[in-house]
Amino acid sequence: MSKRTLILAFESSCDETSVAVIENGSKILSNVVATQINSHKRFGGVVPEVASRHHIEQITGCIDDALRIAKAQYSDLSAVAVTYGPGLVGALLVGVAAAKAVAFAHNLPLIPVNHMAGHIYAARFVAPIEFPALALLVSGGHTEIVYLPTENEFQIIGETRDDAAGEAYDKVGRVLGMTYPSGKQIDDLAHTGQDTFNFPRAMEKENNFDFSFSGLKSAFINTVHHADQIKETLSKADLAASFQQSVVDVLANKTIRALKQFKVKQLILAGGVAANNGLRERLDIELKAFPEVKLLKAPLNLCGDNAAMIGAAGYVALKNGIHADLDLNADPSLEFEWYPGMEK
Ligand code: KG4
Ligand code: ZN
Repeated sequence: MSKRTLILAFESSCDETSVAVIENGSKILSNVVATQINSHKRFGGVVPEVASRHHIEQITGCIDDALRIAKAQYSDLSAVAVTYGPGLVGALLVGVAAAKAVAFAHNLPLIPVNHMAGHIYAARFVAPIEFPALALLVSGGHTEIVYLPTENEFQIIGETRDDAAGEAYDKVGRVLGMTYPSGKQIDDLAHTGQDTFNFPRAMEKENNFDFSFSGLKSAFINTVHHADQIKETLSKADLAASFQQSVVDVLANKTIRALKQFKVKQLILAGGVAANNGLRERLDIELKAFPEVKLLKAPLNLCGDNAAMIGAAGYVALKNGIHADLDLNADPSLEFEWYPGMEK
């Protein structure tokens, strides 16, 4: 590899069309994100057909902008990296087709990237990742704890049995009359209230690294509906604070359990929900009991979906000789492997 490795990275797995130019896997020369949130808001969630259409409309403009901002030409590029799963199939296909077209036209290696590996590597923009590491990955579609023995191995040790944490935030937000996505709105409101409702903490005592958020969601919805029926007004701030406290308790509890069993150098916090202030503050406090473990939090502006993180993960894959052919297809249910011997 030459000294300056420039990767053109693509991300289109859900509702953000993003193209980035990343130097040596750690420097962002450009990271263009065209968000579609306004188009999905009125439906209360992402509409797959609408998402695909937007990606098609946005992708070429995003490529032009990413290259222009990075002051790079196609001839400066070393490789093309792309999210090929997990995500919405029609949305993924737009990024995959665009990345293949650029790779073919400019004779560049094509690097397939797992979206969740991308989320983990968003933390690379804070500091180099040291191995072995654990990652708490919390997004709108996933909630899992991942063990990384080396830089390109990702092994799940626990995951949600039902809803993802972000999904629970968005569903609860709807009941509070918030617009999609509501994670940040609940987070902000939670800081003005108290945990007065004491919602359930699912699976907290179970000796595994799994999560469950559907019971919490139901308890929340039942509480609000019951109050509506008896015409009682509940404090939205206290509801938000109570919900968030339950989510943060469960996430922190299982992460600490994992840190006790897996001796690692770093804990990485990543994914859309990693932007949550309550969770960030809580892990700062909990990690004081593990002075040998460094907490690496994805930067706030890179917690949500973006192509910079795909470029960082793609750089590592490229170093490890991972390439795809031009028959690369989207894999909407792409998953990491499980840690050997771990029960699914
Ligand atoms: O990783 P991401 O951008 O998309 C997926 O790959 O799913 O995550 C989006 C999720 C949404 O559910 C959103 O409500 C949630 O992240 N989110 C938050 C916060 N900011 C975004 N959840 C809790 N607190 C936040 N501050
Ligand atoms: Zn994501």
